[in-house]
Amino acid sequence: VTNVVALNDQRELQQTPSLDRLMALTATDLARVNEVILEQMQSPVLLIPQLAGHLIAAGGKRLRPMLTLSAARLCGYQGERHTGLAASVEFIHTATLLHDDVVDESDLRRGAATANVVWGNQSSVLVGDFLFARAFELMVADGSLEVLYILSRASSVIAEGEVHQLITANDTDTTEQDYLEVIEAKTAKLFAAATEIGAIVADRPAEERQALASFGHNIGMAFQLIDDVLDYSAHQATLGKAVGDDFREGKITLPIILAFRHGDEEARVFWRRTLEDLEQKKGDFKRAVQMMENAGALKATVDRAREYGQRALDALSIFPDDEHKQALQESVAFAVSRSY
Ligand code: IPE
Ligand code: IPE
Ligand code: MG
Ligand code: MG
Repeated sequence: VTNVVALNDQRELQQTPSLDRLMALTATDLARVNEVILEQMQSPVLLIPQLAGHLIAAGGKRLRPMLTLSAARLCGYQGERHTGLAASVEFIHTATLLHDDVVDESDLRRGAATANVVWGNQSSVLVGDFLFARAFELMVADGSLEVLYILSRASSVIAEGEVHQLITANDTDTTEQDYLEVIEAKTAKLFAAATEIGAIVADRPAEERQALASFGHNIGMAFQLIDDVLDYSAHQATLGKAVGDDFREGKITLPIILAFRHGDEEARVFWRRTLEDLEQKKGDFKRAVQMMENAGALKATVDRAREYGQRALDALSIFPDDEHKQALQESVAFAVSRSY
Protein backbone atom coordinates (compact mmCIF):
# COMPACT_ATOMS: atom_id res chain seq x y z
CA VAL A 1 0.00 0.00 0.00
CA THR A 2 2.53 2.54 1.14
CA ASN A 3 5.37 1.96 -1.27
CA VAL A 4 3.68 3.75 -4.08
CA VAL A 5 2.63 6.73 -2.00
CA ALA A 6 4.70 9.87 -2.22
CA LEU A 7 4.24 13.47 -1.22
CA ASN A 8 3.56 14.53 -4.76
CA ASP A 9 3.18 12.82 -8.07
CA GLN A 10 6.40 14.22 -9.47
CA ARG A 11 8.48 12.68 -6.74
CA GLU A 12 6.62 9.43 -7.19
CA LEU A 13 7.92 9.27 -10.74
CA GLN A 14 11.45 10.06 -9.66
CA GLN A 15 12.30 7.58 -6.93
CA THR A 16 11.29 6.18 -3.61
CA PRO A 17 12.03 8.78 -0.93
CA SER A 18 14.76 7.71 1.45
CA LEU A 19 16.82 8.94 4.37
CA ASP A 20 19.96 8.91 2.21
CA ARG A 21 20.40 12.65 2.09
CA LEU A 22 19.88 13.03 5.84
CA MET A 23 22.29 10.17 6.52
CA ALA A 24 24.96 11.59 4.24
CA LEU A 25 24.73 15.07 5.76
CA THR A 26 24.84 13.89 9.36
CA ALA A 27 27.29 10.99 8.86
CA THR A 28 30.23 12.49 10.79
CA ASP A 29 28.06 13.73 13.64
CA LEU A 30 26.12 10.47 13.74
CA ALA A 31 29.33 8.46 14.03
CA ARG A 32 30.08 10.50 17.16
CA VAL A 33 26.52 9.87 18.44
CA ASN A 34 27.03 6.14 17.97
CA GLU A 35 30.28 6.33 19.92
CA VAL A 36 28.52 8.09 22.79
CA ILE A 37 25.76 5.50 22.70
CA LEU A 38 28.28 2.64 22.92
CA GLU A 39 30.21 4.35 25.74
CA GLN A 40 27.13 5.21 27.73
CA MET A 41 25.46 1.80 27.57
CA GLN A 42 28.42 0.31 29.44
CA SER A 43 28.05 -0.97 32.99
CA PRO A 44 29.90 -3.42 35.24
CA VAL A 45 26.59 -5.25 35.45
CA LEU A 46 27.12 -7.17 32.25
CA LEU A 47 23.51 -7.96 31.52
CA ILE A 48 23.01 -4.24 30.82
CA PRO A 49 25.45 -3.87 27.90
CA GLN A 50 24.48 -7.34 26.68
CA LEU A 51 20.77 -6.63 26.51
CA ALA A 52 21.06 -2.99 25.39
CA GLY A 53 23.78 -3.95 22.89
CA HIS A 54 21.52 -6.57 21.35
CA LEU A 55 18.90 -3.97 20.49
CA ILE A 56 21.33 -1.19 19.62
CA ALA A 57 23.52 -3.38 17.40
CA ALA A 58 20.44 -4.57 15.52
CA GLY A 59 20.43 -1.09 14.02
CA GLY A 60 17.33 0.97 13.75
CA LYS A 61 17.02 4.00 11.55
CA ARG A 62 18.47 6.52 14.05
CA LEU A 63 15.90 8.91 12.64
CA ARG A 64 15.33 10.99 15.78
CA PRO A 65 19.01 11.67 16.50
CA MET A 66 19.61 12.51 12.84
CA LEU A 67 16.75 15.01 13.06
CA THR A 68 18.37 16.64 16.10
CA LEU A 69 21.71 16.84 14.31
CA SER A 70 20.27 18.23 11.12
CA ALA A 71 17.95 20.70 12.90
CA ALA A 72 20.94 22.11 14.80
CA ARG A 73 22.95 22.49 11.60
CA LEU A 74 19.97 24.03 9.81
CA CYS A 75 20.08 26.65 12.56
CA GLY A 76 23.74 27.29 11.80
CA TYR A 77 25.09 25.51 14.86
CA GLN A 78 28.85 24.92 14.72
CA GLY A 79 29.57 23.29 18.10
CA GLU A 80 29.52 19.75 19.50
CA ARG A 81 26.70 19.76 22.07
CA HIS A 82 24.15 18.41 19.63
CA THR A 83 25.82 14.98 19.44
CA GLY A 84 25.46 14.23 23.17
CA LEU A 85 21.88 15.41 23.06
CA ALA A 86 21.13 13.34 19.98
CA ALA A 87 22.48 10.30 21.86
CA SER A 88 20.21 11.19 24.74
CA VAL A 89 17.22 11.32 22.38
CA GLU A 90 18.10 7.88 20.98
CA PHE A 91 18.46 6.50 24.52
CA ILE A 92 14.97 7.72 25.39
CA HIS A 93 13.67 6.12 22.20
CA THR A 94 15.51 2.84 22.91
CA ALA A 95 14.22 2.75 26.47
CA THR A 96 10.63 3.17 25.26
CA LEU A 97 11.12 0.36 22.73
CA LEU A 98 12.27 -2.03 25.49
CA HIS A 99 9.24 -1.14 27.59
CA ASP A 100 6.87 -1.08 24.62
CA ASP A 101 7.82 -4.58 23.48
CA VAL A 102 7.07 -5.93 26.95
CA VAL A 103 3.68 -4.22 27.06
CA ASP A 104 2.85 -5.22 23.46
CA GLU A 105 4.25 -8.75 23.93
CA SER A 106 6.17 -8.28 20.69
CA ASP A 107 8.75 -10.84 19.66
CA LEU A 108 10.46 -9.20 16.69
CA ARG A 109 12.26 -5.83 16.59
CA ARG A 110 14.83 -4.55 14.09
CA GLY A 111 14.79 -7.95 12.44
CA ALA A 112 15.86 -9.77 15.61
CA ALA A 113 14.19 -11.43 18.58
CA THR A 114 13.09 -8.81 21.11
CA ALA A 115 14.97 -8.49 24.39
CA ASN A 116 11.88 -9.67 26.26
CA VAL A 117 11.96 -12.91 24.29
CA VAL A 118 15.69 -13.42 24.85
CA TRP A 119 16.05 -12.19 28.47
CA GLY A 120 12.47 -11.91 29.73
CA ASN A 121 10.22 -9.04 30.76
CA GLN A 122 11.93 -8.19 34.04
CA SER A 123 15.34 -7.64 32.48
CA SER A 124 13.86 -5.64 29.62
CA VAL A 125 11.98 -3.28 31.90
CA LEU A 126 14.96 -2.73 34.17
CA VAL A 127 17.46 -2.14 31.36
CA GLY A 128 14.90 0.23 29.83
CA ASP A 129 14.95 2.14 33.13
CA PHE A 130 18.74 2.20 32.99
CA LEU A 131 18.73 3.71 29.50
CA PHE A 132 16.16 6.31 30.52
CA ALA A 133 18.34 7.30 33.44
CA ARG A 134 21.44 7.44 31.25
CA ALA A 135 19.59 9.77 28.90
CA PHE A 136 19.11 12.12 31.85
CA GLU A 137 22.78 11.94 32.79
CA LEU A 138 23.64 13.02 29.25
CA MET A 139 21.23 15.94 29.47
CA VAL A 140 22.63 17.07 32.80
CA ALA A 141 26.14 16.84 31.35
CA ASP A 142 24.98 19.19 28.60
CA GLY A 143 23.91 21.66 31.26
CA SER A 144 20.97 23.41 29.62
CA LEU A 145 17.90 23.49 31.86
CA GLU A 146 15.79 24.38 28.85
CA VAL A 147 16.85 21.23 27.04
CA LEU A 148 16.45 19.21 30.23
CA TYR A 149 12.91 20.53 30.58
CA ILE A 150 11.92 19.72 26.99
CA LEU A 151 13.29 16.17 27.02
CA SER A 152 12.06 15.33 30.51
CA ARG A 153 8.61 16.65 29.61
CA ALA A 154 8.69 14.52 26.44
CA SER A 155 9.59 11.48 28.56
CA SER A 156 6.66 11.89 30.94
CA VAL A 157 4.30 12.56 28.04
CA ILE A 158 5.47 9.37 26.26
CA ALA A 159 4.66 7.39 29.40
CA GLU A 160 1.25 9.08 29.60
CA GLY A 161 0.64 8.18 25.96
CA GLU A 162 1.49 4.55 26.54
CA VAL A 163 -0.85 4.39 29.56
CA HIS A 164 -3.59 6.20 27.64
CA GLN A 165 -3.17 3.67 24.84
CA LEU A 166 -3.38 0.82 27.31
CA ILE A 167 -6.80 1.97 28.48
CA THR A 168 -8.13 2.40 24.93
CA ALA A 169 -7.03 -1.13 23.94
CA ASN A 170 -9.90 -3.52 23.23
CA ASP A 171 -12.39 -0.64 23.25
CA THR A 172 -14.05 -0.17 19.86
CA ASP A 173 -15.70 3.01 21.14
CA THR A 174 -12.29 4.71 21.09
CA THR A 175 -12.59 7.94 19.14
CA GLU A 176 -10.33 9.39 16.52
CA GLN A 177 -9.64 12.17 19.03
CA ASP A 178 -8.41 9.64 21.62
CA TYR A 179 -6.23 7.99 19.00
CA LEU A 180 -4.67 11.28 17.93
CA GLU A 181 -3.96 12.16 21.56
CA VAL A 182 -2.26 8.80 22.06
CA ILE A 183 0.04 9.07 19.05
CA GLU A 184 0.83 12.72 19.70
CA ALA A 185 1.98 11.70 23.19
CA LYS A 186 3.70 8.39 22.57
CA THR A 187 5.47 9.32 19.33
CA ALA A 188 5.15 12.91 18.08
CA LYS A 189 6.28 14.49 21.34
CA LEU A 190 9.77 12.95 21.14
CA PHE A 191 10.13 13.96 17.49
CA ALA A 192 9.11 17.52 18.43
CA ALA A 193 11.59 17.59 21.31
CA ALA A 194 14.34 16.12 19.11
CA THR A 195 14.04 18.91 16.55
CA GLU A 196 13.30 21.76 18.98
CA ILE A 197 16.52 21.17 20.92
CA GLY A 198 18.42 21.67 17.65
CA ALA A 199 17.25 25.29 17.66
CA ILE A 200 18.01 25.64 21.38
CA VAL A 201 21.66 24.57 21.19
CA ALA A 202 22.03 26.98 18.27
CA ASP A 203 20.52 29.71 20.48
CA ARG A 204 17.92 30.67 17.91
CA PRO A 205 14.84 32.85 18.57
CA ALA A 206 11.42 31.53 19.61
CA GLU A 207 10.07 31.63 16.06
CA GLU A 208 12.64 29.10 14.87
CA ARG A 209 12.27 26.94 17.96
CA GLN A 210 8.54 26.79 17.43
CA ALA A 211 8.92 26.09 13.72
CA LEU A 212 11.23 23.16 14.41
CA ALA A 213 8.98 21.87 17.19
CA SER A 214 6.05 22.03 14.78
CA PHE A 215 8.09 20.27 12.11
CA GLY A 216 8.94 17.48 14.58
CA HIS A 217 5.39 17.17 15.85
CA ASN A 218 3.95 16.85 12.36
CA ILE A 219 6.54 14.43 10.98
CA GLY A 220 6.07 12.39 14.16
CA MET A 221 2.30 12.21 13.68
CA ALA A 222 2.81 11.14 10.05
CA PHE A 223 5.42 8.60 11.15
CA GLN A 224 3.09 6.89 13.64
CA LEU A 225 0.08 6.93 11.28
CA ILE A 226 2.19 5.07 8.72
CA ASP A 227 3.48 2.74 11.44
CA ASP A 228 -0.12 1.83 12.16
CA VAL A 229 -0.79 1.19 8.46
CA LEU A 230 2.35 -0.96 8.19
CA ASP A 231 1.13 -3.15 11.03
CA TYR A 232 -1.53 -4.37 8.56
CA SER A 233 0.18 -4.02 5.23
CA ALA A 234 3.95 -4.36 5.52
CA HIS A 235 6.29 -7.04 4.32
CA GLN A 236 7.45 -8.43 7.66
CA ALA A 237 11.11 -9.04 6.73
CA THR A 238 11.42 -5.49 5.40
CA LEU A 239 9.66 -3.99 8.42
CA GLY A 240 11.75 -5.98 10.89
CA LYS A 241 8.74 -6.21 13.22
CA ALA A 242 5.87 -8.69 13.30
CA VAL A 243 2.99 -7.66 11.07
CA GLY A 244 -0.37 -8.11 12.80
CA ASP A 245 0.74 -7.36 16.37
CA ASP A 246 -1.75 -4.50 16.72
CA PHE A 247 -4.67 -6.70 15.63
CA ARG A 248 -3.59 -9.59 17.82
CA GLU A 249 -3.57 -7.43 20.94
CA GLY A 250 -6.66 -5.41 20.02
CA LYS A 251 -4.89 -2.07 19.72
CA ILE A 252 -7.32 0.54 18.43
CA THR A 253 -5.50 2.45 15.69
CA LEU A 254 -6.92 4.75 13.02
CA PRO A 255 -7.35 2.02 10.36
CA ILE A 256 -9.53 0.14 12.86
CA ILE A 257 -11.52 3.21 13.88
CA LEU A 258 -12.26 4.04 10.23
CA ALA A 259 -13.14 0.46 9.27
CA PHE A 260 -15.40 0.11 12.30
CA ARG A 261 -17.18 3.35 11.47
CA HIS A 262 -17.64 2.32 7.84
CA GLY A 263 -18.78 -1.22 8.66
CA ASP A 264 -22.30 -2.64 8.86
CA GLU A 265 -23.63 -4.58 11.86
CA GLU A 266 -21.97 -7.82 10.72
CA ALA A 267 -18.64 -6.03 10.43
CA ARG A 268 -19.01 -4.57 13.89
CA VAL A 269 -19.77 -7.98 15.34
CA PHE A 270 -16.52 -9.16 13.78
CA TRP A 271 -14.50 -6.24 15.18
CA ARG A 272 -16.00 -6.64 18.65
CA ARG A 273 -15.27 -10.37 18.73
CA THR A 274 -11.70 -10.05 17.53
CA LEU A 275 -10.61 -6.81 19.21
CA GLU A 276 -12.74 -6.58 22.36
CA ASP A 277 -13.11 -10.27 23.26
CA LEU A 278 -9.79 -11.15 21.58
CA GLU A 279 -11.44 -14.25 20.19
CA GLN A 280 -9.39 -14.68 17.06
CA LYS A 281 -9.25 -17.63 14.74
CA LYS A 282 -7.26 -18.55 11.69
CA GLY A 283 -8.11 -16.29 8.78
CA ASP A 284 -9.37 -13.42 10.95
CA PHE A 285 -6.34 -11.22 10.33
CA LYS A 286 -6.67 -11.65 6.58
CA ARG A 287 -10.35 -10.84 6.84
CA ALA A 288 -9.56 -7.74 8.91
CA VAL A 289 -7.15 -6.49 6.26
CA GLN A 290 -9.74 -7.19 3.56
CA MET A 291 -12.39 -5.25 5.46
CA MET A 292 -10.00 -2.35 5.90
CA GLU A 293 -9.27 -2.34 2.20
CA ASN A 294 -12.99 -2.38 1.41
CA ALA A 295 -13.56 0.51 3.78
CA GLY A 296 -10.63 2.44 2.28
CA ALA A 297 -9.32 2.68 5.84
CA LEU A 298 -5.65 2.08 5.09
CA LYS A 299 -5.62 4.55 2.25
CA ALA A 300 -7.46 7.14 4.34
CA THR A 301 -4.87 6.73 7.09
CA VAL A 302 -2.04 7.23 4.59
CA ASP A 303 -3.85 10.36 3.33
CA ARG A 304 -3.98 11.64 6.88
CA ALA A 305 -0.25 11.01 7.25
CA ARG A 306 0.33 13.01 4.07
CA GLU A 307 -1.61 15.94 5.55
CA TYR A 308 0.64 15.96 8.60
CA GLY A 309 3.61 15.61 6.27
CA GLN A 310 2.50 18.72 4.43
CA ARG A 311 2.24 20.62 7.71
CA ALA A 312 5.77 19.52 8.57
CA LEU A 313 7.00 20.91 5.25
CA ASP A 314 5.09 24.16 5.82
CA ALA A 315 6.79 24.57 9.19
CA LEU A 316 10.17 24.66 7.43
CA SER A 317 9.18 27.58 5.21
CA ILE A 318 10.86 30.19 7.45
CA PHE A 319 14.27 28.61 6.92
CA PRO A 320 16.50 29.39 3.95
CA ASP A 321 16.79 26.70 1.31
CA ASP A 322 19.92 24.80 2.13
CA GLU A 323 21.04 21.19 2.10
CA HIS A 324 19.78 20.51 5.63
CA LYS A 325 16.35 21.85 4.78
CA GLN A 326 16.29 19.58 1.74
CA ALA A 327 17.30 16.59 3.87
CA LEU A 328 14.53 17.36 6.37
CA GLN A 329 12.04 17.71 3.54
CA GLU A 330 13.11 14.36 2.18
CA SER A 331 12.75 12.78 5.62
CA VAL A 332 9.10 13.85 5.55
CA ALA A 333 8.64 12.13 2.20
CA PHE A 334 10.29 9.06 3.69
CA ALA A 335 8.04 9.12 6.76
CA VAL A 336 4.88 9.03 4.67
CA SER A 337 6.05 6.47 2.11
CA ARG A 338 8.26 4.21 4.19
CA SER A 339 8.08 0.43 4.21
CA TYR A 340 10.33 -0.05 7.28
C1 IPE B 1 9.48 2.62 16.24
O1 IPE B 1 10.27 3.69 15.82
C2 IPE B 1 8.50 3.12 17.24
C3 IPE B 1 7.49 4.03 16.68
C4 IPE B 1 7.31 5.22 17.13
C5 IPE B 1 6.64 3.57 15.63
P1 IPE B 1 11.29 3.54 14.63
O2 IPE B 1 10.59 2.99 13.43
O3 IPE B 1 12.00 4.84 14.46
O4 IPE B 1 12.28 2.44 15.19
P2 IPE B 1 13.81 2.15 14.84
O5 IPE B 1 14.62 2.95 15.80
O6 IPE B 1 14.06 2.51 13.42
O7 IPE B 1 13.97 0.68 15.09
C1 IPE C 1 5.46 2.94 19.50
O1 IPE C 1 4.20 2.45 19.25
C2 IPE C 1 5.50 3.98 20.58
C3 IPE C 1 6.64 3.89 21.47
C4 IPE C 1 7.66 3.10 21.30
C5 IPE C 1 6.62 4.76 22.63
P1 IPE C 1 4.09 1.03 18.57
O2 IPE C 1 3.77 -0.01 19.58
O3 IPE C 1 3.20 1.13 17.38
O4 IPE C 1 5.56 0.82 18.04
P2 IPE C 1 6.09 -0.53 17.43
O5 IPE C 1 5.20 -0.86 16.26
O6 IPE C 1 6.05 -1.53 18.52
O7 IPE C 1 7.48 -0.16 16.97
MG1 MG D 1 4.75 -1.81 20.02
MG1 MG E 1 3.47 -0.20 15.62
